[in-house]
Amino acid sequence: MKNNLIKEDKKYVWHPFTQMSDWVKDEPSTPVVIEKGRGNYIYDVNGKKYLDGVSSLWVTLHGHANRVINRRISQQLSKIAHSTFLGLTHGPAVKLAKELVKITPQGLTRVFYSDNGSTAVEIALKMAYQYWHQTEKKSKRDRFLSLKNAYHGDTIGSVSVGGIDLFHSIFRPLLYKTYYAPSPYCYRCRFRVRGYDFGVHSKNFLEHCRRMGCKGQCVKEFEKILKKYHKRIAAVVLEPMIQGAAGMLTMPPGYLKEIDSIRRKYKTLLICDEVATGFGRTGKMFATEFENIKPDFLCLAKGITGGYLPLAATLATEKIYRGFLGKYEEFKTFFHGHTYTANPLGCAAALANLEIFRKSKVLKKLPEKIGHMSKELKKLAQMECVGNIRQLGLMVGIELVKDKKKIVDFSAQQKTGARVCAECRKYGLMIRPLSNVIVLMPPLSITNHEISRMIAIVRKCILKICKK
Ligand SMILES: Cc1ncc(COP(=O)(O)O)c(C=O)c1O
Repeated sequence: MKNNLIKEDKKYVWHPFTQMSDWVKDEPSTPVVIEKGRGNYIYDVNGKKYLDGVSSLWVTLHGHANRVINRRISQQLSKIAHSTFLGLTHGPAVKLAKELVKITPQGLTRVFYSDNGSTAVEIALKMAYQYWHQTEKKSKRDRFLSLKNAYHGDTIGSVSVGGIDLFHSIFRPLLYKTYYAPSPYCYRCRFRVRGYDFGVHSKNFLEHCRRMGCKGQCVKEFEKILKKYHKRIAAVVLEPMIQGAAGMLTMPPGYLKEIDSIRRKYKTLLICDEVATGFGRTGKMFATEFENIKPDFLCLAKGITGGYLPLAATLATEKIYRGFLGKYEEFKTFFHGHTYTANPLGCAAALANLEIFRKSKVLKKLPEKIGHMSKELKKLAQMECVGNIRQLGLMVGIELVKDKKKIVDFSAQQKTGARVCAECRKYGLMIRPLSNVIVLMPPLSITNHEISRMIAIVRKCILKICKK
């Protein structure tokens, strides 16, 4: 049955972020056919069990087949699976909006639903643009300020503010122009912080920069751009505290605060994309809490349903919301909406997710797990081909390099990251790399014992693959 499925998969399916000519040749490993999930584990059709080390692409929070979420979805299913949100409303979406407003940074009062992280960002970008055009006389704001290495999703609008050349450069001719400030995880940081880097190695931003031998160049560049172009910039968009898809690039403490005060000085809006960092991944409910940032927009997806269903939310302030009010015939309406917007099953799952956070005191249990993860990761820091380890909460990037002293990267042909992850599968660990960065992002329900096991497998596989 498995062979037949794989055969038909290879014949009919096109997988995301996958070189299909490798996939059909079983490169770097034979496709695994997943059948079920229980707790922190997923199982293939042959009954082999894998620890879900990347939370099924950064979504699962409280484990698979969670009883509370299953029950809440079933209860909702017995009522209605879907009803449009255009011109109608329903209980789960209203309750969820109220809860999201309660737990997100102060000032965010309105919830606009969609289906995934890309649309959550796309909506914030469109709202910011339209807001200015409806509230500022002869507004010229048709651009955004983003960071190099940024990732905000795969739709054309969110790709336009993306800063990862590998994913985005081919589409440049299709994209609107965006200004880019340097990534705070700069060249200097990468090559000077050797071994282990919690992202908390100094108390404030400038101290961090001094240690790195620079003078906060990334913030200076950011301000330079805003000073020159602020009249054209609708909003600053960024992933707070950690640039995930770029390889878990952590921001030095204080950086976000600096950026926030500069963008306030130039009266620009701020969009915080917490698609990856939201819902406890960093150890806090939201990464914006680290530096008490109050953005104008907050983008949520991935973990919002505990990893169950495609649902996303873009939160906005009352000031933004009011910019869209007017008489019908003024057409200030936000003309945007997806067919499955605010899907009731998704909203029921999201409410169950928040219920678990509350009742099981999930956030309180995290510091111990995060500390245990740090302790275990330190064991990898001295390995010959581990250039740098970055961690924020339960988000981890282990960067593999060919030569640690001279900092030489493995070539793309070597597919080192992919081969290490393929090797891990043999030992019952399912992870997925970002190029040569081994990513670990387990469910929040992971135990210390499972963390130790996960790191031990990663260690063994790095040793084996990097030696070859
Ligand atoms: C920060 C961030 N924004 C947006 C997205 C896009 O989310 P989705 O894949 O649900 O469209 C991602 C996905 O990894 C992300 O990490």
